[in-house]
Amino acid sequence: MSTKIQAVRGMNDILPDEAQWWQAYEATVEAWLARYGYRNIRMPLVEHTQLFRRAIGEVTDIVEKEMYSWRDELNGEDLTLRPEATASLVRAAIEHNLLYDGPKRLWYSGPMYRHERPQKGRYRQFHQYGAEALGFPGPDVDAELIVMCAALWRELGLTDVRLEINTIGAPEERARYRADLIRHLEAHQDALDADAKRRLHSNPLRVLDSKNAAVQAVVASAPSLMDYLGEASLAHFDGLRALLDAAGQAYVINPKLVRGLDYYNLTVFEWISDRLGAQGTVCGGGRYDGLFAQIGGKPAPATGFAMGSERLIALMHDAGRAPRARLPDAYLVAQGEGSYAYGFRVAEALREAGFAIVQHAGEGSFKSQMKKADASGAWTALIVGDDEMRADEISFKPLRREAPQVRMARARIAETFAAALARLRD
Ligand code: HAM
Repeated sequence: MSTKIQAVRGMNDILPDEAQWWQAYEATVEAWLARYGYRNIRMPLVEHTQLFRRAIGEVTDIVEKEMYSWRDELNGEDLTLRPEATASLVRAAIEHNLLYDGPKRLWYSGPMYRHERPQKGRYRQFHQYGAEALGFPGPDVDAELIVMCAALWRELGLTDVRLEINTIGAPEERARYRADLIRHLEAHQDALDADAKRRLHSNPLRVLDSKNAAVQAVVASAPSLMDYLGEASLAHFDGLRALLDAAGQAYVINPKLVRGLDYYNLTVFEWISDRLGAQGTVCGGGRYDGLFAQIGGKPAPATGFAMGSERLIALMHDAGRAPRARLPDAYLVAQGEGSYAYGFRVAEALREAGFAIVQHAGEGSFKSQMKKADASGAWTALIVGDDEMRADEISFKPLRREAPQVRMARARIAETFAAALARLRD
């Protein structure tokens, strides 16, 4: 016997019972995005490696160690499975000149790939919905993005997802801060762990959110980025806060929140749940006004977020709001010469009228077919046998209510079936 082939570690199958939750989640999210005027856009899963290196930043966990990259020898191209989609979206917006007639609100969804250490809530193939507002410079649209998330949590029945916000200012302000932060960290080298030491010169801002207690003690006495911000940056942040306050949206300002991707400026935010253990961030985003220019486009302000589907669906499970599956309206049982083809015509007519019909396939006695009908969860069984075919009729047998079995003419079966089903469900 050959050895069994299993799924790749960190990449999960989503089986039908679970997929039902995904479908409920996806329907809710997509209707919600439409209500805020966001339009769908779809980008490839594979992009040139250079796109992510430039957009996300050379000295980030993602680019340093988490990308699925390879060389396509046939074309001599370096390619990468997307670890996120903001870079792809901006690439597409530039390539197709999407902003030629003004700002755009766009959303995307799908799998992302990061070679992280798999654990609960962290996978190597995971899924995101992302919303990006392109061409809007003001804090109003940042506030809109944040407030719309809150509306989604309510709709999904999630109660304790909290909001952290911060501002990381403009690049020049960050550069000045960075120099002082490096000086501070250098002065406390001995207390830093290997990770912090490595990041000290390459990406010192990431030392701020270190989980190491000794490093945190050094960070506590470090200068604060907020003190380096100029008037414009502060005004932008004040504007955001005023709008959140006006909307009644609670938040905590976390001065250590810098996010793991380098394209951000000004607003950054995360939505966090304490019900998911270590991987509690369900949504993260912020402003990335420099990204268009950074990947070769005309400068354009932009802001957005992405949320992790696996984590949000785990929270839906936790909240116990089970989605209702669509059960078949009828299970079609057929017995006798020519009954399958006859039944198939009946089933097709009903499906065309919008009913969900499962037709029995394969052999099986009447009794065993009826057992399958019951197990399918269908409301009714439709039965086709020699008698029925002779009379050009179908037997209709309610399965979930005490009600008599009746015969229905095949002509106008959709109307008759609809009326009978409606009476049963009343
Ligand atoms: P991110 O923070 O890297 O941001 O990811 C966003 C969300 O995706 C996270 O908050 C988390 O819920 C989910 N996520 C990330 N990695 C994993 C993983 N390995 N397993 C399961 N879920 C994961 C971005 O991707 C940015 N593109 C967000 C953005 C959009 N910023 C501006 N626009």
